[in-house]
Amino acid sequence: MGFFAPLRMTTRIQHINDLSLAGKRVFIRVDFNVPLTADGKVADDTRIKACLPTIQHALKAKAIVILASHLGRPKGEKDPKYSLSPVAERLMELLKLEQVIFPEDCVGDGIRKLSLEMKPGQVMLLENLRFHKEEELNDEKFAKKLASLCDVYINDAFGAAHRAHASTVGMVQFVKEKGAGFLMQKEIEFLTKVIAKPERPFVAVLGGAKVSDKIAVIENLLNTVDRLAVGGAMANTFLAALGFKMGHSKVESEKNYVAKKAFERAKTKGIPIFLPLDHVIVQKIDEEAPVQVTSDANVPEGWMAVDIGPKTVALFSKELQNAKTVFWNGPMGVYEIEKFSKGTLGVAHAIAGLKRATTIIGGGDSASAVVQAGLENKMTHISTGGGASLEFIEGKKLPGLKALEL
Ligand code: 3PG
Repeated sequence: MGFFAPLRMTTRIQHINDLSLAGKRVFIRVDFNVPLTADGKVADDTRIKACLPTIQHALKAKAIVILASHLGRPKGEKDPKYSLSPVAERLMELLKLEQVIFPEDCVGDGIRKLSLEMKPGQVMLLENLRFHKEEELNDEKFAKKLASLCDVYINDAFGAAHRAHASTVGMVQFVKEKGAGFLMQKEIEFLTKVIAKPERPFVAVLGGAKVSDKIAVIENLLNTVDRLAVGGAMANTFLAALGFKMGHSKVESEKNYVAKKAFERAKTKGIPIFLPLDHVIVQKIDEEAPVQVTSDANVPEGWMAVDIGPKTVALFSKELQNAKTVFWNGPMGVYEIEKFSKGTLGVAHAIAGLKRATTIIGGGDSASAVVQAGLENKMTHISTGGGASLEFIEGKKLPGLKALEL
């Protein structure tokens, strides 16, 4: 009871609900790798809010809560730019606590002593784990030091579950009890639905810059989708493989074979792949650059595609219409520039408007685009993991999850 099977039914992972936490030091690995503003404030607290159910559950259960995260890539050295201090402040506000203990480091005798002196209901956020190179090296001594801070280990850091680091993998074997938090469970349940038992029709929309980043995702999705729509710069490679002229657009010619293989597999399986019918084009990527819309999928010499055009938005929206499951990963163009964001926002609106579908947004840029459009409450699930959600969809076993298996 209470167990859940992440990918293969033979493996079992306990959930935080199954563990007794009262009076215990509960180490919760979270992914508070959040963007900061130039003046050092939390710019987007989505990832902090996403972990609140787990933290609040532990507090209600009278646990001593010890939170640990990485922030950015400080390369194993202490760098104030990557301090979790702004996160500690935001967390205190969100939890409505008078204090979140924020020590200067994440390991050491002083911190262990602190963990032993803390009272149930208190929260400590350790300083950035990546200030020690041993974290990313999954060093055993470092892992043991982290493990010495707790009695129970909970992983709620889905966004870091594809990393085999000391805090996600190494330390787990040195703690008696282990389990997944609410966010981790939610992510696994929704993403498993996509690859294992989607309600049909299942439509996937893929975008982003590179085909090479998504070869395995395309291959795995072609095992389950009913329709696939491809936009963004990666569609250029698909169109070029079909003989369309792409002008100066980004094309990965060396990945021509990936596109051809995908077409062949899709044809054998009877899965239609929808590609752009038109593009928004410019001569250089610049907010001031004059913009044109092509009449078909060809791009004239000297021009480059920066967004899908209106006919494509209409096509993708139509193909999404009767979907019961949708998975979207990757923007349709250079959406960071407003002029080139209509295609990405058009797709976001089309997905948000689906009343009876389970809509799952892979993390990263597509998640940011949904938030930018103010549509986050209209989606069933927005993954907090960019790399992690892609690796999961590829069918890889994530090290952070494997470490939790009983
Ligand atoms: C992310 O933002 O995708 C996660 O926090 C992982 O960060 P990383 O790519 O620096 O390991």
